[in-house]
Amino acid sequence: MGTIERKGNSILVRDRVFPDDLPKLGAALHGAIGHEEDLKIGLDFSECKALFQSAMLPVIPLVVRYREVQRITFVLKPPVDRELGRLFLNTNWAHHIDPGNHPPNRYPRGKVPALRFHGDGDDGQEAILERVLELILGTLDTSRDMLKAVEWSLGEIMDNVPVHAESPVGGFVQATAYTESNSVEFVVADAGIGIAASMGHDDDRAALRDAITEGVTRDSERNAGNGLFGSYQVAVLSGGEFEIRSNRGVLRRAGTDDLRTWSPRAPYLGTSVRCKIGLDESGLLERALRFKGKPHDPPRDFVEREFESNSGLLVMKMADTASAHFGSRKGGRHIRRVVENLLRDHPVIVFDFRGVGVFTSSFADEVFGRLFVSMGPRAFMTRIRMRNVDRTVEGLIDRAIVQRTRLGSHETDQD
Ligand SMILES: Nc1ncnc2c1ncn2[C@@H]1O[C@H](COP(=O)(O)OP(=O)(O)O)[C@@H](O)[C@H]1O
Ligand SMILES: [Mg+2]
Repeated sequence: MGTIERKGNSILVRDRVFPDDLPKLGAALHGAIGHEEDLKIGLDFSECKALFQSAMLPVIPLVVRYREVQRITFVLKPPVDRELGRLFLNTNWAHHIDPGNHPPNRYPRGKVPALRFHGDGDDGQEAILERVLELILGTLDTSRDMLKAVEWSLGEIMDNVPVHAESPVGGFVQATAYTESNSVEFVVADAGIGIAASMGHDDDRAALRDAITEGVTRDSERNAGNGLFGSYQVAVLSGGEFEIRSNRGVLRRAGTDDLRTWSPRAPYLGTSVRCKIGLDESGLLERALRFKGKPHDPPRDFVEREFESNSGLLVMKMADTASAHFGSRKGGRHIRRVVENLLRDHPVIVFDFRGVGVFTSSFADEVFGRLFVSMGPRAFMTRIRMRNVDRTVEGLIDRAIVQRTRLGSHETDQD
């Protein structure tokens, strides 16, 4: 557990910080600030040794609310530990705590950093959702159905913020892809009224249990009350985890444990939902998203919007989808993973090179060379079609295939 200590206008956070340390941190903030305005508060993480997104992301809306509503200035001391210090920067935690000293980092690896959304008709919410789905497609192994399950769950949980939370700072999301367990975890947090208040309940723990029950909603006219129920089902049936913190209630289901609720020592002044979804389960969508006994298949999923042409053929527009990855071997691996994932559920994929004049040979090797070797010539030539290939691009592809065929799939060359 972490050690959280308040010294005057500074809060010191030390050691390894877990989600169950959140109440202590919230209480320390409340103790230092209360209802005062125009204070300067130090947040000293210099002796912090480990910190996960599940513990830190929920702190962000609280801090931003203090800054924007009570004009509190936060001065961040990042961890001395180099790796953790870097994490503070590339997750945007440093930026959201102390924006004057830390510009946002838009493109960290392996994760979607802490991003803010308001749900007021801008496309921020949709753009964040697509970034999470791109992260999964390019980093993990997933079927189209599992991707749909994630899209549906994250979409519902984010939608709840503008619809129910009345949060003065909107919502914050962060997501991480875990390759070892082939799973994704996202956290969505707001500084709003909380679930019990929104449902007209006076007991936080009972409200949380109700909120994940099928058909329970504060507004049965407009909503269906399935958002939290469905995402809870997806998380649990996929072998993942689900946790909600809202005011004086925590609800958690993790591993083989039963569903538990408890009251933390200090309230969380808002709502934070953490959902971890394992992607290996097949046929999960149909089992998890069942409302009134009937399976629910969300229409127009990400793969359809992003890749499906009118004729139903999957087309990857290389200039749009892949050009940001053309520069490196790592970018090539990302695109190869996307292709391998899409080929799980589709017989053919079309690469459309319209507008593409060149890419690096390491990109070509990772995508075309390695796919040719792993799929074999016949499958490669029938399942991967190419359009609008100019002479330079053709040369790059041919050369990558010839060289990779000579080297075999195990040789790696570093560049
Ligand atoms: N972020 C939130 N802030 C406040 N209340 C929430 C939040 N998320 C969910 N709720 C409450 O939980 C209830 C259930 O949510 P959900 O299952 O998504 O159903 P619906 O949104 O269709 O009502 C909502 O009706 C609302 O009262
Ligand atoms: Mg909802």
